[in-house]
Amino acid sequence: MLMQEDIERFYRQDPKALNREDALPVFEEFKTLLNRGTIRAAEPASGLWKTNHWVKKGILLGFRLGVTNEVETVPPFRFFDKNTFPIKNLALSDGVRIVPGGSTIRDGAFVAASVVCMPPMYINVGAYVDEQTMIDSHALVGSCAQIGKRVHLSAAAQIGGVLEPIGSLPVIIEDDVLVGGNTGIYEGTIVQRGAVIGAGVILTGGTPVFDLVRQKTYRKERDRPLVIPEHAVVIPGSRQIAGEWAEKEGLSVATPIIVKYRDAKTSASTALEESLR
Ligand SMILES: CC(C)(COP(=O)(O)OP(=O)(O)OC[C@H]1O[C@@H](n2cnc3c(N)ncnc32)[C@H](O)[C@@H]1OP(=O)(O)O)[C@@H](O)C(=O)NCCC(=O)NCCS
Repeated sequence: MLMQEDIERFYRQDPKALNREDALPVFEEFKTLLNRGTIRAAEPASGLWKTNHWVKKGILLGFRLGVTNEVETVPPFRFFDKNTFPIKNLALSDGVRIVPGGSTIRDGAFVAASVVCMPPMYINVGAYVDEQTMIDSHALVGSCAQIGKRVHLSAAAQIGGVLEPIGSLPVIIEDDVLVGGNTGIYEGTIVQRGAVIGAGVILTGGTPVFDLVRQKTYRKERDRPLVIPEHAVVIPGSRQIAGEWAEKEGLSVATPIIVKYRDAKTSASTALEESLR
């Protein structure tokens, strides 16, 4: 792909010697494709996820090319940011409902028609948010995070972003996942379709997850991110720390636990109010 070659070439150049006149039109075209969802920071590839490192390079190139200037807003608000990433210019016909009150979608993010955004929330560059997903108040969709169809990102759910290092996989939330309130999902974690992340669960690259049902432990390995299996219901738990002193002090560490796999009761407790959409 010619676009990929151009991005790689500009990315390799010394940022101080970058030819802005040549690079800016390529970056703008790149951003158009990102906005349309035609190119993605990560995409499904035969059941797994493949990171498109060059797409992340393209986004980083935008930061190198940008100069910080005043962003046009309604007074008294004033913002200052890189001119290469203005506020995404959505129209009524795009079909995304944005309730007023401090929400921003940064240019270079794909947001499908029928997505609902409750204020305040933020979607960063390179993120991909698919149809009928609800992004509730105080939720963050970090840079390059990939969010599937009919996902509910509950209030204050934090989906971490990842632009650097270039080789790292963004967080992936597959179709029909419920991400509960006050959760945090970081460092390339993959939540497979239909899973439920109970309120308050934190998942990072260093978090082991204990599966009570299958009696297995899931954790990030050198070449594989932490993967939460399809339909798993994860709740916050704790486990005792071994060792005489820790036991004497009664210490434990927080540990997400898979208590069950989705059943009719889970679906009832996670059902969304259709009339809100
Ligand atoms: C995970 C969740 C969906 C419950 O799923 P469920 O399938 O109905 O779970 P169940 O009620 O069958 O619970 C299974 C077991 O886990 C326990 N459990 C469930 N959720 C728990 C939680 N969040 N914390 C601790 N324990 C929990 C239950 O007590 C039960 O244990 P028991 O069998 O010993 O009684 C729910 O707890 C949750 O976190 N929902 C998200 C709420 C939210 O964030 N809403 C956002 C609004 S913006």
